[in-house]
Amino acid sequence: MNQILIIDDQKLIRDSLKVVLEKNSYEVHLAETGCKGLEIIKKGGIELVLLDVRLPDIDGIDVLKKIRAMDPEIIVIMMTGYGTVENAVQAIKIGAVDYINKPFESKALTTIVKLALETHKLKREVRGFQDRNKMLYGTDKIIGQSKSLQKTLDMVNKISQIESSTVLIQGESGTGKELVAKAIHYNSSRSSGPFVEINCSAIPTTLLESELFGYEQGAFTDAKRAKQGLVEQANGGTIFLDEIGDMELSMQSKILNVLQERKFRRLGGGKMIDMDARIIAATNHNLREEIGKKSFRQDLFYRLNVLHINLSPLRERKEDIVPLTKYFIHEFNQSFKKNVRDISQDAMDLLLNYSWPGNVRELRNTIERIMIIENPEIILRKHLPAEVIGEISLELSSPKRPFDPIVLGEDGIDLKAITESFQAEIISEALMKAEGNKSKAAKLLNMDRFSLRYLIKKYHLS
Ligand SMILES: Nc1ncnc2c1ncn2[C@@H]1O[C@H](COP(=O)(O)OP(=O)(O)OP(=O)(O)O)[C@@H](O)[C@H]1O
Ligand SMILES: [Mg+2]
Repeated sequence: MNQILIIDDQKLIRDSLKVVLEKNSYEVHLAETGCKGLEIIKKGGIELVLLDVRLPDIDGIDVLKKIRAMDPEIIVIMMTGYGTVENAVQAIKIGAVDYINKPFESKALTTIVKLALETHKLKREVRGFQDRNKMLYGTDKIIGQSKSLQKTLDMVNKISQIESSTVLIQGESGTGKELVAKAIHYNSSRSSGPFVEINCSAIPTTLLESELFGYEQGAFTDAKRAKQGLVEQANGGTIFLDEIGDMELSMQSKILNVLQERKFRRLGGGKMIDMDARIIAATNHNLREEIGKKSFRQDLFYRLNVLHINLSPLRERKEDIVPLTKYFIHEFNQSFKKNVRDISQDAMDLLLNYSWPGNVRELRNTIERIMIIENPEIILRKHLPAEVIGEISLELSSPKRPFDPIVLGEDGIDLKAITESFQAEIISEALMKAEGNKSKAAKLLNMDRFSLRYLIKKYHLS
């Protein structure tokens, strides 16, 4: 039940308000002076105060100021009598949400109270949502120790402080372009506005224009009703143009125009609309190369490239692999309620040596898959995907090891027996290749003839 406090010196008003509000299932407290009212608020629990502008002890406006200082979350509605409307206007400036003139009808009063409480609740929810996004996309969620990543973080922080300059993020697939774009938005003064994403490569050019700029009724056959475009929807926030390198030239010139004018028209519309959205564009193409091939406009590139962030591929910042791996293990432990404690050193060495063509996304997916499917206490070499293991065994294979990676089972192995059978196998292979010629075979195995003869006898080969 919402708790409401009425501060008014007139008993008649206090009592009649109490009756009306209690009928509407509010819990009502009463105070006849400002001081007594403040006492009650101090005890906590009051959500809304109906406050008379004119009070015998402290002035209503001063009581309002004190309430604001004690707890800015408390909703205050002023009650004004004849000749005190100016005070009400002043009160709103200080932070009262509304005012109501005496005498008032009970219906009007309950409507105002109900509305104020609902709006307040909504605002709190929105704020909670924003705080959550800020937490989810804070710069502390961008992990890495490499110089290059630290530089990126530094840029993200600086760019967030600049209100609306355009940003270009370049990097291979999976390097964190979207993560960075969101971090910029949610750490900027635009964070309470929307973050609107559009993937330029996923939408055909013909649709892209109406998606971005919207249209007026009748702009084309199917335009039965006017529609806001994404640029308009991003008002006060950020628009993320993903894969801008895939945008066709005709569309590029339209975007360039909007960036220059900071104004646009809906399709079939006459009125120019102001753009109040920051544009963050991202691409995994090398735009300078695209300019060379005439598939990207140079002037648009310079427009976009005012502030730029280059995300290097993971293989060029291997220092990030250890912290990222540990971070993902922690993340999936929490989200999947798992209990993976660590990763073994040799498994980590494999991760460090792999080239990660899919960059951070591939590393994240690898850890996720292991944790869902294998759910080990400690991630070992055997849990890693073949390509991660495979690449290193090739790299280490100098001298080349013409056999599969060895897996040491739970029960261990008999090293001597394995080595001997392996030796025997290799020697007979060499003898076959040398067509029984022992000198030739010895050469193939890089050993002398006497040692070979000894081993042939030992293993009963012929
Ligand atoms: N430095 C990082 N710290 C933590 N997570 C990261 C980091 N970089 C990338 N990721 C994670 O890797 C995944 C891929 O990142 P993101 O989607 O931002 O990449 P992208 O560059 O936009 O890729 P694409 O070009 O394929 O769209 C996401 O799950 C993201 O959270
Ligand atoms: Mg992306």
